[in-house]
This record gives sequence, structure tokens and C-alpha cells, in this order.
Amino acid sequence: MQLEIIGNIESVKNSTNHLLIKTPEATARIWVYSDSVIRVNVSKAFDETDPSFAVIQSPAGQLDYSETTDEIVITTSLLKLRINKSPLRLNFYTADDKELSKDDERFGINWQGERVINYRKLYADEKFIGLGEKTGNLDKRGSSFTNWNTDAALHDTKSDPLYKTFPFFIGIHSGLTYGLFFDNTHKSYFDFGATTDEQMSWFDADGGDMNYYFFGSQSVAKIIEDYTWLTGRMEMPPLWSLGYQQCRWSYMSAAEVLDIAQRFCKEKIPADVMYCDIDYMHGFKIFTWNKETFPNPKAFIAKLKAMNFRLVIIVDPGIKIEDGYKQYDEGVDKDYFAKYPNGENYTADVWPGRCHFPDFFRDDVREWWGAAFTALTEPGVEGFWNDMNEPAAWGQNMPWLVKFGDKFMPEVRNAYGMQMARATYEGTRKILGDKRPFILTRAAYAGTQRYSAVWTGDNSAYDEHMLMGQRMVSSLGITGMSFVGVDIGGFTGDPTPELMARWNSLGVFTPMFRNHAMQGTIMREPWQWGKKNMAIIKKDIELRYRLLPYIYSGFYQSHKTGIPLSRTLAIDHTHDENVYDVKYHNQFLFGDSVLVAPVESTQLTAEVYLPSGNWYRLSSGEKYAGGQVYNVDTPLTDLPVFIKAGAIIPMQNIVQSTNEKGDGILELNVWYGSEVCSFVYYEDDGTSYDYENGDYNKREITFNPAKRTVTFSEAEGSFKSKFSHIQLLLHGFEDLPGTKRKVEKRYQHKNINSLFKIDF
Ligand code: GLC
Repeated sequence: MQLEIIGNIESVKNSTNHLLIKTPEATARIWVYSDSVIRVNVSKAFDETDPSFAVIQSPAGQLDYSETTDEIVITTSLLKLRINKSPLRLNFYTADDKELSKDDERFGINWQGERVINYRKLYADEKFIGLGEKTGNLDKRGSSFTNWNTDAALHDTKSDPLYKTFPFFIGIHSGLTYGLFFDNTHKSYFDFGATTDEQMSWFDADGGDMNYYFFGSQSVAKIIEDYTWLTGRMEMPPLWSLGYQQCRWSYMSAAEVLDIAQRFCKEKIPADVMYCDIDYMHGFKIFTWNKETFPNPKAFIAKLKAMNFRLVIIVDPGIKIEDGYKQYDEGVDKDYFAKYPNGENYTADVWPGRCHFPDFFRDDVREWWGAAFTALTEPGVEGFWNDMNEPAAWGQNMPWLVKFGDKFMPEVRNAYGMQMARATYEGTRKILGDKRPFILTRAAYAGTQRYSAVWTGDNSAYDEHMLMGQRMVSSLGITGMSFVGVDIGGFTGDPTPELMARWNSLGVFTPMFRNHAMQGTIMREPWQWGKKNMAIIKKDIELRYRLLPYIYSGFYQSHKTGIPLSRTLAIDHTHDENVYDVKYHNQFLFGDSVLVAPVESTQLTAEVYLPSGNWYRLSSGEKYAGGQVYNVDTPLTDLPVFIKAGAIIPMQNIVQSTNEKGDGILELNVWYGSEVCSFVYYEDDGTSYDYENGDYNKREITFNPAKRTVTFSEAEGSFKSKFSHIQLLLHGFEDLPGTKRKVEKRYQHKNINSLFKIDF
């Protein structure tokens, strides 16, 4: 194998919207996407159609550059890209010349065979966050990773690769931040100083171009905003999908599913969603129902709906080879399956036995797949769980020569799951008309947030896995995925009652709140854990429902800006070293101002680091000064949750389902802070797409301690709030000069739909 180096620049040309640079080995193209986003593509054979599964933007920035004998400098208001000519090296700076990220001077970009590699300078204090669903620490310095979507059943806290590919990371050093998205779906590798002599980090792919987007904003939040501007943001999820979700592999019959739903009602434990795993099907054939165990899907789903439950059902890509099975016959007739180069359909074993696999990379196949969902929507299903789409097959090892569209498997494998989720989303959205479908997928590639929520696959029922799951949720948030869940309780193995209760407490603060377990494990529903634990679980689920106005507003933020609901502290406290300390790296902010410190199930006290600002413990109201470590009690009944001083948190009364009306009172909790603070409250009907046409209700709520006022901006949008009253609850206000009362104050105001201001 030969090492081919990129060499010296021979020519530079301004080519419409990009700079075209030639070396003897390759061509480099540079586009300015915006003032803070510059794209680099270095290739030997550029595909002029320039396809990307992830990117939805075109270059919109101004291409301003200057050239001397030694270098070319591209300048925006925020960034400078200095391109060294001999040899070609790409070095990024802030507009005021602070060094953000450079090619390694010795090696830069080169090739070994088809493999294209970029070696970059590693800074002494550099930290790395991102890559989405990965094991290991928050700070990935000293680790290396592979992206190769894999059915990672039984993965442990060190396994790699896993199910998803998000080749996007953020580098933090010298008080600076930058982001880099390597948009290449081949098997790819990232080394953050794991295997070199502390001089360089590097990333590479088995094939394709050195095609990356460089983000130069000086804030992690702004980099995430830019990344999700480039790759898209989530739609507003259906409100019901934010309630509690109960799943199992499998509830074996309609009767069993109904029994479980009924028990939730009887115990008065709020819940919104029941799932059917693979056993609802006839012979694991997608788009069929088992006629014996699910004899009347329509009546079954109607009964669930009458209890205010929605149904989510699983679909896998493997289509059983069986004459007379509609999907098989049509797929063969129309040639819809992935193929060997000789035209034969690729065959492998999954749950149904011998299967073929739809080629989701083709428009016609996605349309066909999407249209087939009528078999499920017609009886009333509104949620679609896409599994095994790495794609998984027993033995894992899909031959290299399998073809999807005109590409061989290794080139696009990492985007297969995303294309399946896309087909499911586009199809069901079309069929359901104005109703929002809920889509969940296991495999994903950058940009999947446009179509689907994700969960972290088959985790395990032990503490370390629970804590790692939280880091994955926060890390997926960095890479644009806000709507993320883990199997609460652990998929594999049996949790202790304590672990179940603790994990459920954490689930309250997980964007998708789903309890799921593997076949053969003990039953997991809240009442399986004894009275005392059930009471804890119930109280926590009730808290989730009380927080829904806050959570929904948080999802609105993700929809608008890409900022995730679950936020590693590295987003708001980027340059605080403690945030990356393994003792505290599981901590996160849930929305703007709720800090959660996950702790193991057996731990009855814990060290918690509270970053700058003042904090109040949610359960006790106790006040803490930030920038310090505290040892706090963490009994099973009380996961450490802290509220930021100056937080405004809208809550509601306990409802049994998001479909229940509630008492019409929006409980507005304000925690005293000495600075002016505000919160953007958002509400819409929770089910339709009318919000896209202005049918929502949005207001900025502001607390001004000096003026002693809480004010509401005029409502934007035409939606009439479901709340008619506001109850204002003031916490920690004994700190407000002149306030004598130690107890919380309550104010009642009628009619949230009109504009008002409260003085106190
Ligand atoms: C896979 C999924 C799991 C599901 C099971 C059966 O293991 O990850 O969630 O329950 O398949 O469908």
C-alpha cells in the first residue's frame, strides 16, 4: 500500500461559489456556508452531484479571499482559513487570529490506498466532546472510535462501534471552541490523541472524500445551532410521546397489552404509550398481525385509546422470503431489495428466518415502504419503532459486494437506518395527514433528527450502564439528537428494585421516557417492585407529567435552535474543568435550568458539583452557592435535582395522560435570582402540524428582581392556551431585599390568554 501525500498547490481558481485548488494528487474545494461554517472537500474524483444524507443547506456565505506566494486566506466576519501552499495545509483561526485548529504540519491530509486521512494538531489542553452514541467519558481525549453501524447487543461500557454514526465533534482548548463534521458515510475512525505521541489527533474513512464542515463559533451552544442549521432540526413531537411509555419484548397478545394499560389506570400511574414488539406479527412478517393473539387490531387500539393510550409498534427491515406474503411478492416483482452485483437479491437471517432487505436508498422503495403503513395506521397506530436497521442479520457480516442503489454496502451502510427512518416518517406523515407520527429508530446517521427519535439500543441492567446511558443521551444532544431515550431499567438482565426505581427517577429527566426489557427478564411495570418502590416510581412519573409544559417548551427550543433538551454541562459551562471530571461528567441540565446529578442505585450520599450561579435543591428548597462540590443525601426517594437561581419553570397539575384536560392552571415557578431572567413558554395543540402555520401560543416570561415584576410578553400565534389561570409560585424569595416572608408565595391570575404583569 502506498502513502500518497497531498503535495503543493499548483493552481487556485474562484469557481462560482467555491475556491478550486489543485495539487498533483487531488483537488480541494472550499465553500463558505456562513460566517461561522466553512466546508472543505479534498478529493481525487469529486462527484459533481455532491450527494449528502445529512446536509440540507447550500453555501450562503461570501467567499472573500486573498492570495500571496505562500498562502491563500479566506476571511469571514468570524473565521479565517489560512491555506498554506507548499504543502497544502488547512489552518483555521478566529477573525482576530487566535489559532482554532490546524492540520498537523508534517502529515495534513493524505491517502493510504482508498483510505483518506486528516492528521490535525493536538493542543496540550484540548478536550473533545461529541460523536453521539459512544461509550467512554464525556471528554473523549485519549480515546479512539469507529463508526460502523452495528447491532451491538450485549454491549458493555467499553464497546465500540455501536448502532449509530455521528461524525461530528467539538474541540475545546485555550479558552476556544470549534466544531468539525466529517460528512462521509464510509466506515470512519476518530482518534482524539489515543494512539499518538500527544502531537496529533486524526480522523479518516475507508473511502470517499475528505469532506468536512468546520464550525468556528465561540460557544458550544452556537456550534450546535450551526450544526443543526446545516443538518436540520426536529419537528415538534406529538405531545403524547413525551408521556411515560411502557414497552416489553413482548406483550404477547392484545389482551395482555390491555391488561397492562388497565392496571396503569387502576393504580393511577400516569402513562401515554403501550408498545407491541415483534410478537404482534404473524411469523415476524412486517405489516401483518397475528390473527390469534391480535384478532381485531382496530377494536384493540380503540380500547387503548379509550383509556388514553397510544400504540407504538415495531417494524424491522427484514422481509421474510415467503411466496404469497405481500411485501415479499411486491418487493421481488418490482426489484426493491438490496442485491448482489449479479442481480440476485441479498439474503440473510433475522427474526423471520430468511429475509431480503429493502433498498431504502431508492426513492421508489421508500415510497413503497411508506405506503405500506396503511396496514398499521388503518387500525389506529400512530407510532412506529424502526429496529434492526444497521442493518442487523445473524452473524452481522454483510458481504462487501451487496449493493444499495448504485453503491456498494461499505459506502452507505452507516446511512441505511436513517433512510429507513426517513421512509417511515415520510410515508406515515403522508398517510396520517395532519397528525404527527412518532418515529423511533435504533440506527442513525447525522441528520436523523429530521425524521425520528432514537434510543440507545440494548443496554444492560446495572448501574454503570445506567450512568453511561445518560452520557450517551447528552452526547447525542451535542450531535443534534434531542429526542433520545434509553431502555429504563436496562434491556438485558434483571435490575434490582432499587436500580429500577433509581433509573425511573432519571427517566423523568430523559427526553424519551420508556421502560423496556428483553424477553425472559422479569416483568418491569411499576407495580412489579413492591409497594414502597411503586410509590417512588409513581411519584416520579407524576413529576414528569407536572413538568410537561416545561419539557414541551424545551422541545420547542430543539425544534427552533437545535439545542437539546438534555444538555451536558459542557454546553453552558464549557471552560469549567470540573465539568469533564469523571466524578461529575454524568451531570446534565434538563432544559434551561434543571440540573440533574445521576447517582447509582446503592449510593445514599453523593458528591455533586454545582457550576457557577446559585442553585436550589428541588426537593428541599435548600440553597447552594455554585462553583463548589457538595456532599448531598441521595436516598432512593430523592435523586439530586437542582434548580438554577433565576429559573422560570412552568408546570401543570397531575394528569393521568397527556390526553387529559387538566385543571386549566399553569403553575409558574420562579426561583429567585438576582439577575433579570426569562423563559420562552410554548404551547400548541400537541398533535397536528397547524403550528407550522402560526397556530401556537408563545410568550416570553420575564422576572425582574429590581423592579419586582413578572411580565408576560404578548402571545405570539393564534393558539388558545389550554390554561385559563396562572398560579405564580415564588421560591427562595427571602433573598429579595424587603421580602420578609420565608414561605413560598402564591398568586392567582385568571386568563392566561390575555396579557398581564404581576408586581409583588
Ligand atoms: C432488538 C431491539 C430490542 C427489541 C428486540 C426484539 O434487540 O434492540 O429493543 O426488543 O430486538 O424486537
